[in-house]
Amino acid sequence: MAWTRHHILGLADWKAEEYEILLQTASSFREVLSRRTKKVPALQGQVVTNMFFEPSTRTRSSFELAAKRLSADILNFAPGTSSLTKGETILDTAKTYLAMGSDIMVIRHKEAGVPHLIAAEMDRLQTGVNVLNGGDGQHEHPSQGLLDLFTLCSLLDYENPRLELLKGKKVAIVGDILHSRVARSNIWSLRSAGAQVHLVGPPTLVPQFFAEMTVGSNGDQLFVHWQLEPALKDADFVMTLRLQKERMTNYLLPSLREYHQSYGITRDSLKLCHPHVKILHPGPVNRGVEISSDLMDDPALSLIQQQVTSGIAVRMALLYLIGTLNS
Ligand code: NCD
Repeated sequence: MAWTRHHILGLADWKAEEYEILLQTASSFREVLSRRTKKVPALQGQVVTNMFFEPSTRTRSSFELAAKRLSADILNFAPGTSSLTKGETILDTAKTYLAMGSDIMVIRHKEAGVPHLIAAEMDRLQTGVNVLNGGDGQHEHPSQGLLDLFTLCSLLDYENPRLELLKGKKVAIVGDILHSRVARSNIWSLRSAGAQVHLVGPPTLVPQFFAEMTVGSNGDQLFVHWQLEPALKDADFVMTLRLQKERMTNYLLPSLREYHQSYGITRDSLKLCHPHVKILHPGPVNRGVEISSDLMDDPALSLIQQQVTSGIAVRMALLYLIGTLNS
């Protein structure tokens, strides 16, 4: 199968073949990144614009470095110092970057659907611009879902990361699922790989309706728990998520201390898991809340640094696949 996707807006409709192409392409870019000269000319002369309307450390920097490693020119937009503060609309901002020759726009926004809106406008105007969702509201964060997938598959077979490696593996996703676009994207990708996904957290943050989200045709299953024990029992991987306090409009938790006592991942709670268990977290971490500080820094257990490193190869792969589609 050849690559055909023009925009990367979410993983909900990705096919297994697309994941495989992405994993293989990311793997070859990881090899490039291990060389002394960590750069290829694939996107030379193209302009990538980072339009982050919401704060970001990892994702924005990772897309920037990925674009540079592909020899593209990169523009970084910062809302606080932009004409948005003078009342310009988001679409007008996008059209301004279009007029400067942007070929790829990476968009993050606190409202779900903004990357889709810009992609639709770029298509209507027949610009040929590719749009990449860098995280939209509570909806999706596809590059994070893919870098998590790449990290897990690479751990199981570094030379040949592929979907089937995760078939039947138990993955617990712990914490604030309700507000998490990372969880949603991961549910789609893990489901496609045939993993058993167990969501766990307080009922206010893990609504039962998630159970209906994905029972697929791969034998994959999705479970909802409000107690840590059944979710962690024999888990191969534990993905912890940040409590997204900026998205909580009501009092959904008694206190952070109580949350940590019931749902925080500690050395003690990990005893329930499979002996080879590894922990993931997309960052930023509230140290000592969703995960104990010492666990986070333990390289034998934590994949957090690998996730960040994987992000560059995966974002190079995404930029490359959409950026060379019509060439
Ligand atoms: C996540 C995000 O922004 O959705 N972070 C990230 O991109 N690495 C998760 C979060 O903010 O908690």
